[in-house]
Amino acid sequence: MSHAFQAKPLTASACGPLRGKVKPPGDKSISHRAFLLGLLTVGETRVEGLLEGEDVLHTARACTALGAKIQRLGEGSWSIFGAGIGSLLEPRDALDFGNAGTGSRLTMGVVGGHGVTARFDGDASLRKRPMRRILDPLVLMGAQVLEQAEGGRCPILLQGTPEPAPIEYRTPVASAQIKSAVLFAGLNALGRTTVIETEASRDHTEKMLTFFGADLHSEAFGEHGRKITLEGRPELRPRAIKVPVDPSSAAFLIAAALLVEGSDIVVEGVMMNPLRTGLLTTLLEMGARIEVLERREEGGEEVADLRVRASALTGVDVPAARAPAMIDEYLILAVVAAFATGVTRMNGLQELRVKESDRLAATEAGLLANGVRAQIEGDDLIVEGGAGVCAGGGLVETHLDHRLAMSFLVMGLASQNPVTVDDETMIATSFPTFRPLMAQLGAEFSG
Ligand code: S3P
Repeated sequence: MSHAFQAKPLTASACGPLRGKVKPPGDKSISHRAFLLGLLTVGETRVEGLLEGEDVLHTARACTALGAKIQRLGEGSWSIFGAGIGSLLEPRDALDFGNAGTGSRLTMGVVGGHGVTARFDGDASLRKRPMRRILDPLVLMGAQVLEQAEGGRCPILLQGTPEPAPIEYRTPVASAQIKSAVLFAGLNALGRTTVIETEASRDHTEKMLTFFGADLHSEAFGEHGRKITLEGRPELRPRAIKVPVDPSSAAFLIAAALLVEGSDIVVEGVMMNPLRTGLLTTLLEMGARIEVLERREEGGEEVADLRVRASALTGVDVPAARAPAMIDEYLILAVVAAFATGVTRMNGLQELRVKESDRLAATEAGLLANGVRAQIEGDDLIVEGGAGVCAGGGLVETHLDHRLAMSFLVMGLASQNPVTVDDETMIATSFPTFRPLMAQLGAEFSG
C-alpha cells in the first residue's frame, strides 16, 4: 500500500546535562505477540503496558480482521476476545502492516496455518523486505503463495492450510521472526512442530506460548543454539499480560545520557532478558557508567532500573555471536562509538541489510555525513571514535527507518554542530513518546 505522506525533518543540537527518571514504553516484540496470542485464545486476554506504536496498532487491526474483538480500555491497557486456534475469519480487505516487519511476518505464520487467505502489504520499506524466509517453511507446511511481488516481497496473497503439516525446520538465519512464524503455524498442526536455530534469537514467543498453556519444550542446541518443540492444537488459556519496557527503545535514552556531558538519569523497568541485553554488555565493556538497580520480575521477564551517567568510552570489538541479542541496537551503538576513544569494530552485521532500511549502508552514510570516520568491510562496520568529540553538522537520510532517525538525533545532542534527520515520522512506529520523554530529561529538538 503506498502511503502519501509528508516527510518531517527534525534537528538535534547540543544540550545541557540530561537529568531525571523516565519509563520508556512497552516492548514492541511482546506487544505484537500479545495481540496474536489473544487472537488465538478463546476468552479475554488482558494486556497492560502495551506499546501503542503504529507497528503494533497495525497488528491489532489485522487481528480484528482475522476475528478478534479488540478494545482499548485506557493508556496501554487493552482487551482481546480471541477467535481461537482453527477458527479464524477470512479478512475481507488486504492486511496493511505499514512499516511493521514483525507484525506482518508473525501474522503470515498465523494465516499460513489456518484455512484462510489473506493479502499482506505495507509501506515502501516493508515492500522491499525479503519474505521468502517466512514463506518457505509455510509452504513446506502446506500453505500456498498465490501472488507475490518480485523476489518474494509484499504485496503477497497467502492461502493458508487448515491442516498444517508438523515439520522440523532449521532456520537459515538467526531470526525470531522466522522461528515465531513457524511456531504460530504449528499451533494448528496435528502433531509436533520443531524449530532449530544455531544461534539463539529472542525467545518471547516461546515464553508467551508457555504462559498461555501450550506444551512447548526448548533445549540447548550446539554451542549457541536452541531446539524448540511445540505440540499442535493446544487449548490456550486466556491470560493477563504485563508488557515490560522495551530495551531497544531504552537504548536511545541510555546512549543520550552516556554522551551528553554531566548527565545522570534513571531509566525505569527495562527488560533484562539475556537475549536482548547485548547492547548493555557492549556498553559496559566500553566503560559505560551504568548501574543495574532493583532487579525484579515483571510480566514473566526480569526487569531493572538503570542508572546511567555520562561516560568516557573506549572502542571495542563486538563479536558476531552477540548480534542476535542486540540486532536492533547497532545503529545507536555506531553513534556511541563515534564519541569513544579508539576503534569499534562490529562484526557479522549481514542481517542489518534487510531491516527497515539497509542499516549497514545507511549507518555508514550517516556517520560519514557527520564527519565520523567509518567503513564497511564485508559484513562488518568499523567506526573510528573522536575521543569525546564528534563534528556533526550532517543531514541524515532515514529511509523510512525509525531507529536511524532516533540514533542520529541522539548524536546531535552531543556533537559540535547540529544534526538533522530528513524525516522523524517513522519514530511513531516504535517509540511515539520519544520526544516528550527526551524533553522530560532536558533535550528538545527543533522541527
Ligand atoms: C523481532 C525480531 C528481530 C528484530 C525485530 C523484532 C521480533 O528480527 O530485528 O525488530 O519481534 O521477533 P529478525 O527475526 O529478522 O532478526
